[in-house]
Amino acid sequence: MSLLTIKDAATGALELSTSDAAEIAAALAPINVRFERWPVANLPAGADAETVLAAYRPQLDAFMGDTGAGTADVIKLDSSHPQKDALRAKFLSEHTHTEDEVRFFHEGAGNFIMHVGGKVYDAYCTQGDLISVPANTHHWFDAGTEPHVTALRIFTDTTGWTPHYTGTDMSERFPAVTG
Ligand SMILES: [Fe+2]
Repeated sequence: MSLLTIKDAATGALELSTSDAAEIAAALAPINVRFERWPVANLPAGADAETVLAAYRPQLDAFMGDTGAGTADVIKLDSSHPQKDALRAKFLSEHTHTEDEVRFFHEGAGNFIMHVGGKVYDAYCTQGDLISVPANTHHWFDAGTEPHVTALRIFTDTTGWTPHYTGTDMSERFPAVTG
């Protein structure tokens, strides 16, 4: 189940913990993070990228019409991936991008953790969740040491997705909280 926890970035004090999708969306809206749930397509496990993209085409078209994003692809990561540790490390330190980071979880789960305005917003996203982290938001991502994720990535400009590291130890101080 999806879970949002909000903590004070200085003290670590817990300010909110909720699994309710409407409450999660309402708590993330003030920092311009979009959170919504889409119906999960009924596909065989391990369906290929084109099949996954085709299954979500109506939702993708609606989202792209809303946001101006132009392309989407599918990323799969599981515990057998030979580069899973390197991939985890790449996005585990606090960073920003020059474009929005948009993901929809078709299978599996992962944490998007945003550091904004003296608070840490840890969104544990699970199957059916869409999250959009605005450009220039300090954040990191963790799917754990044994990842299991099949996600749509939606891009406005794929060159904007390079991580720019902030050099903080925030992700060590605030390890991901899973549901
Ligand atoms: Fe990122």
